[in-house]
Amino acid sequence: ATALAELGAEVTLVSGPTGLNAPAGVIRIDVESALEMQAATRAALPADIAVLSAAVADWRVDTVAGGKIKKGPGGPPTLALIENPDILAGIAAPGPDRPALVIGFAAETSDLEANARAKLSRKGCDWIVANDVSDEVFGADGNAVLLISAEGTETWPRQSKIAVARTLAARIADHFKDPA
Ligand code: C5P
Repeated sequence: ATALAELGAEVTLVSGPTGLNAPAGVIRIDVESALEMQAATRAALPADIAVLSAAVADWRVDTVAGGKIKKGPGGPPTLALIENPDILAGIAAPGPDRPALVIGFAAETSDLEANARAKLSRKGCDWIVANDVSDEVFGADGNAVLLISAEGTETWPRQSKIAVARTLAARIADHFKDPA
């Protein structure tokens, strides 16, 4: 969001709970659940570009207790889970509100390019930023990513995460100057 705002984009950031301040010049919508994130993301449309980088939980509990679940003779409760909607696949689906460029992320621990390319086609997005998270990504400042699209695969050298974001924002700006 910071990198896109720096290039002059009007940015709406839909964010889960965080201790970070909203970046300057960005409208931040705070959400707590996947369903709230989906609704807020849809409400932010129409937009030219959607960048979906959240690590959304695959599952949520089916029934939310109204209060504390007390210990009892039945032992620990069983939590029934149901699947969360895929926000990215929904935004990337054809329709009048589909942004011209929809970008997703993939965190993989093996077969990075093949798995990320399969995700690109399964979710219907235009680009995927693929990270190998098996080593030195979570909690580290640097990242080495692939940018995967129908045109091919770009390998970006390891750089700080804000530098990855600025490289992506510059790549997006280039795309709109000269659509591939
Ligand atoms: O399927 P996976 O979680 O690996 O896909 C990652 C991509 O899909 C990310 O861009 C993430 O933000 C998006 N995603 C989503 N909704 C979900 C799960 C993932 O938008 N329920």
